[in-house]
Amino acid sequence: MIVVRRMRPGDREKVAGIFEESFTGSYQYWSIRLLDRLETIVAEVDGEVVGAAELYVTSCEGYGRVGVVAFIAVAPAWRGRGIGRRLVEEAERLFRQRGCRFAAASTRSSNRASIALFTSLGYSVHERGSRVFEELEDALYAYEDDVIFLKRL
Ligand SMILES: CC(C)(COP(=O)(O)OP(=O)(O)OC[C@H]1O[C@@H](n2cnc3c(N)ncnc32)[C@H](O)[C@@H]1OP(=O)(O)O)[C@@H](O)C(=O)NCCC(=O)NCCS
Repeated sequence: MIVVRRMRPGDREKVAGIFEESFTGSYQYWSIRLLDRLETIVAEVDGEVVGAAELYVTSCEGYGRVGVVAFIAVAPAWRGRGIGRRLVEEAERLFRQRGCRFAAASTRSSNRASIALFTSLGYSVHERGSRVFEELEDALYAYEDDVIFLKRL
């Protein structure tokens, strides 16, 4: 059974390990560095933490409050079992609770798994150069990314 809950101090090392094996370069650096600053939720299977997502809420002109999934990762051995989906669904529940009208995330267009995850949950995809990308790029710190996912909550 998959349980999604807030990260506790005892989960930190495990979550950092999942980010370390899931990301490279600046994504790896920032996902770990921001662990203590962003709200982090974890997915647990039989008591083992197997995935995590870092979240924040921001405001953006024309969009109001926007909930952002800054980083999401599932341990390689646990991918493809619906865990990423459960993390994003819980993020959306928290964003609604906090009065967000939109949820958003960003990634590289080469990240097929991330694109599959967000589109299967009803997010629209906006490429660099599009109006939506330009409007949300700063709020999402999407400088290294070239697609933004957006969903009306
Ligand atoms: C992106 C990631 C979090 C997805 O987690 P996951 O637990 O494997 O995803 P799920 O099993 O919940 O899959 C959700 C949907 O995406 C699809 N999907 C997931 N991985 C896929 C892949 N590699 N190729 C194609 N589709 C994929 C699933 O089929 C599913 O679609 P469906 O609901 O229509 O059947 C995971 O691949 C990961 O940790 N990647 C490395 C880190 C990363 O790139 N994070 C995103 C950028 S911040």
